[in-house]
Amino acid sequence: MARKKIALVGAGQIGGTLALVLAQKQLGDVVLIDIVEGVPQGKALDIMEGRLPISTSTVLAGSNNFDDIKGSDVVIVTAGVPRKPGMTRDDLLTVNYDIVKVVGEAIKKTAPNAFVIVVTNPLDAMVYAMQKVTGLPPERVVGMAGVLDSSRLACFVAMELGVAADDVQATVLGGHGPTMVSLYNFVSVGGIPLPQLMSKEKFNELSVRTAEAGTEIVNLLKTGSAYYSPAVCSVRMAEAYLLDKKSVLTCAALLKGQYGFNDLYCGVPVVIGAGGVEKIIEISMTDEEKAAFAKSAGAVKELIDWVDAKMKG
Ligand code: APR
Repeated sequence: MARKKIALVGAGQIGGTLALVLAQKQLGDVVLIDIVEGVPQGKALDIMEGRLPISTSTVLAGSNNFDDIKGSDVVIVTAGVPRKPGMTRDDLLTVNYDIVKVVGEAIKKTAPNAFVIVVTNPLDAMVYAMQKVTGLPPERVVGMAGVLDSSRLACFVAMELGVAADDVQATVLGGHGPTMVSLYNFVSVGGIPLPQLMSKEKFNELSVRTAEAGTEIVNLLKTGSAYYSPAVCSVRMAEAYLLDKKSVLTCAALLKGQYGFNDLYCGVPVVIGAGGVEKIIEISMTDEEKAAFAKSAGAVKELIDWVDAKMKG
């Protein structure tokens, strides 16, 4: 079987972490691509030199040439500017749109058969722009946010209950911003529905912390945004695709009528396998949750309208 190839466009904090975790998992050979000379090459070589103690034969390379995306099975895009304290994800819109456009044109030219995972913020608008620029089928252009938001909520629930983090399943839908929607009835702790273990009031506190979790990290780091957890969540999506796992994950997927929205990327539960986003799962929500989801989708729509106007003119 031919070795798989994974291109990481953006060799910054998330890109570097992605390269290390992908090498540990031996999911495919890795090429790191960035506009800064030396950084992708240096990070690739650094990890190459550490392969013996982690028992991996993954080959890594660094490049400043977008042509090296060529033939990739998976492309993970983190190219762009991260937040600093005081900034919202939406503040990154204009600068990161220009970057995503350039990267999208390169993917269209060199790797039109790839599964593309966008991580650059503001996430929902950037993955929408990526799909429009590349013209790739929407099931092969997906955004990483819901896996992270859900993992953050699961973490806070586990901390509150004093149980193992990997025993908690959680679902957070909507846009990747302060309007995201944490679902009380969709958290389970070792299979036990959360309402049997935690009050709605306590859950609401954790839900607020989840919506602001990215900002909490930005305020602690002061120089950038979260990178370890975004990287491992992106790997989970790449793995689901490369191993045809049929994993049920919350991702930003293009809605075509589901949940009452059309031509809008938003976080919803999907099945990821060799076909990319093989299915969008429509779950039933309470009226309160439906209203919150509609509000969140509305916030995403405003940014998407900006992208549409920019692309037209
Ligand atoms: N092509 C390739 N790489 C680029 C380009 C471009 N046109 N423009 C910028 N980059 C690179 C930068 O040189 C930098 O190395 O993207 C990298 C981004 O890395 P960091 O600044 O460390 O940011 P990171 O923490 O990795 O976050 C990247 O993901 O979560 C989002 O909000 C976050 O939008 C940000 C992105």
